[in-house]
Amino acid sequence: MTDEFTVAVDGPAAAGKGTLSKAVAAHFGFAHLDTGLLYRAVGAKVLAGMEAAEAARSLRSDDLENDSLRTSAVARKASEVAVIAEVRAALLDFQRSFAGRSGGAVLDGRDIGTVICPDAAVKLFVTASARVRAQRRFAEMSAIGIRDTFDQVLADVQARDARDMERAEAPLKPAPDATVIDTSELSIEEAVAAAVATVSAARR
Ligand code: CDP
Repeated sequence: MTDEFTVAVDGPAAAGKGTLSKAVAAHFGFAHLDTGLLYRAVGAKVLAGMEAAEAARSLRSDDLENDSLRTSAVARKASEVAVIAEVRAALLDFQRSFAGRSGGAVLDGRDIGTVICPDAAVKLFVTASARVRAQRRFAEMSAIGIRDTFDQVLADVQARDARDMERAEAPLKPAPDATVIDTSELSIEEAVAAAVATVSAARR
């Protein structure tokens, strides 16, 4: 038996995928990859003048450690470059080999359960209303000193949702076999407990 075990976590912007994925990974001792950071890093390179597909092909792990990746300008550019097939193709192998590492892996993003890891042992689709998501993102950004208004954050979240769901290439949607967790009315602890229960059931 191989000890490969992939948990795919997808969902719209600021639904709580990152917090939930980190907690699930810590609970089971799995590795965690925030695949949004790959697209954000490509977006940041494009804002700095590089061509998108070239930026994706030349991505290195230290490109993922840049503080500017959390800004809304980078998030917006990330969702723009994410519609480009060559960009997605250039990031595919890295994500699949991360998923296949021994000891278990949690990957969060938009297309993990549908395209990157269609055979994942567990697929979660984490969502919440746009208003709740914008409130959470607004609080996160304020805490790190980014001064966008709530209305700007809400408009950005809605524009990014539309672009992510309507694109031809790997659109955001729940895999048919995904477990949906709506976190609108859940605390972090409740959302994590629901995810841990789903993963535990699949490991039996
Ligand atoms: O943190 P948040 O949920 O706001 O966004 P993110 O996960 O960092 O992703 C930023 C953008 O990258 C998304 O709006 C998507 O357009 C794109 N993305 C994607 O297309 N596929 C993924 N697997 C992850 C992110």
